[in-house]
Amino acid sequence: MKRIVILISGRGSNMEAIVKAHAQEAWQAEIAAVISNRPDSAGLKFAAEHGVATAVVDHKAYPSREAFDAELQRVIDGFAPDLVVLAGFMRILTPGFTRHYEGRMLNIHPSLLPAFTGLHTHERAIEAGCRFAGATVHFVTAELDHGAIVAQAVVPVLDGDDASKLAARVLVQEHRMYPRAVRWFIEGQLRIEGERVVQLAGESQSFS
Ligand code: GRF
Repeated sequence: MKRIVILISGRGSNMEAIVKAHAQEAWQAEIAAVISNRPDSAGLKFAAEHGVATAVVDHKAYPSREAFDAELQRVIDGFAPDLVVLAGFMRILTPGFTRHYEGRMLNIHPSLLPAFTGLHTHERAIEAGCRFAGATVHFVTAELDHGAIVAQAVVPVLDGDDASKLAARVLVQEHRMYPRAVRWFIEGQLRIEGERVVQLAGESQSFS
């Protein structure tokens, strides 16, 4: 049975979508733990209520990024994961940490990468006059919001959108796409070929 560890920082709605899909679709995998860097993350309550082990590694308690990442890695590895899923985990990761989980750590970013890496993606997409926005699931590499793309979801930017309206439209797609991508990984259906990720069963990696 493959083991999944999910990292969150707040609301945890993507984590929820993954936990629910895991139960509904009877994945051959275990959600070994949900870990947050914030003790007050709402998502921790949901995880505990659904019988998932939880842990907190509070970044404020560590003097440096390296010290925090070292402790986080120790806690994650205590759950012996096959896959680490970043789901709204709002920390910049050190190269040593990303190297340790290379090829077995996924992230979801709320833009059509490589456009709009970093924060405030929805505001920036609206300001740039984009007609489409979306979200990307990708393997994590040392460079922030880079790494081979597993799946993308596209939504229209509508006249009158503000960041929160657009974020809500994108989030609906995130909740469809991320559980699917995680399941593909668990089932061994993803192969990285250079910069491209191939879904071996030929399922669509494009969502809309
Ligand atoms: C999502 O939009 C995700 O793409 C981004 O942060 C948000 C997290 O939301 N990385 P949630 O915590 O999963 O509800």
